[in-house]
Amino acid sequence: LGLAPLAAASQDFPSRPITMVMPYAPGGPGDTITRVFAAAMQNTLGQQILVDNTAGASGTIGSAKVARAKPDGYTLLMIHVSHATNLAMFKDLPYHPVRDFEPVGSATSGPMVIVARNGFPPKDLAEFVTHVKANPAKVNLAHAGVGSASHLCGLMMMSVLGVQLNEIPYKGTGPALTDLMGGQVDLLCDQTSGTVPPVKAGRIKAYAAAGKARLPSLPEVPAIAEAGIQGFDINISFGLYAPKGTPQPVLGQLTAALQKAVTDPEVRSKLEGMGIAAVGAGQATPAALRAHLAHEIETLGGLLAKAGVKAN
Ligand code: MLT
Repeated sequence: LGLAPLAAASQDFPSRPITMVMPYAPGGPGDTITRVFAAAMQNTLGQQILVDNTAGASGTIGSAKVARAKPDGYTLLMIHVSHATNLAMFKDLPYHPVRDFEPVGSATSGPMVIVARNGFPPKDLAEFVTHVKANPAKVNLAHAGVGSASHLCGLMMMSVLGVQLNEIPYKGTGPALTDLMGGQVDLLCDQTSGTVPPVKAGRIKAYAAAGKARLPSLPEVPAIAEAGIQGFDINISFGLYAPKGTPQPVLGQLTAALQKAVTDPEVRSKLEGMGIAAVGAGQATPAALRAHLAHEIETLGGLLAKAGVKAN
């Protein structure tokens, strides 16, 4: 019942503009990445792709909007790790990240960096570690909401340093970064797409890349492992989803357009300039994204559940 019109409509897909929902605020990494893929995929699909920033509540408002949308391929969701962590943290999540979506494919993978307002006292990574350990209650750590990439990164940082800082949640790291540049908050652990340009422009400063290796996009910034800190590694991957029940031929077209985008040299170099890698075509598939999500639900979602981190 009701499936026949959908099947008929899938034959001329896409015949009108598509909406790609980004569940975090404008100006953040998710927004930037979504716009790169919307532009590339609309060329392939021959229809406009509009980016809809439905931000708030750790990405759950935008995700719920897509879960409820008609499963016809015209409403899509670009989201990262919070698709997995929200399941562990929200007791009344109005959708299920696996059961209510069809994975289209993975899109990107990128590192994170610890940045601070310019006036934050420590001069380098060694001083940063000492300062934060000595003054935890005075340090404000911005993030994009519980379970967001910046929150996970902040949690890992606090865990390895053995401190609890004042957490200040935003609707995305776009607005958090604006406040960091304005000096209203002290610290942020964010993806490189938003942080590299203001670091290079001297509007904020970077203490360390999360992980074992320095970032090609910020070669002068040490890796956190250089301060003798181990086990602080985080990489953020974005993936594209459609509502559950989207017809297979439509999903096939969307996956093909995504695969074309991730292998497009222009897309790859645009992302590379922000320190982010487009995945290979083999990862831009429903199977790869399904496996990635399952892994994140088990590891990161499990970690948060164990730590008792709750959103409501
Ligand atoms: C954003 O786009 O604002 C980020 O992806 C949020 C986050 O830190 O997860």
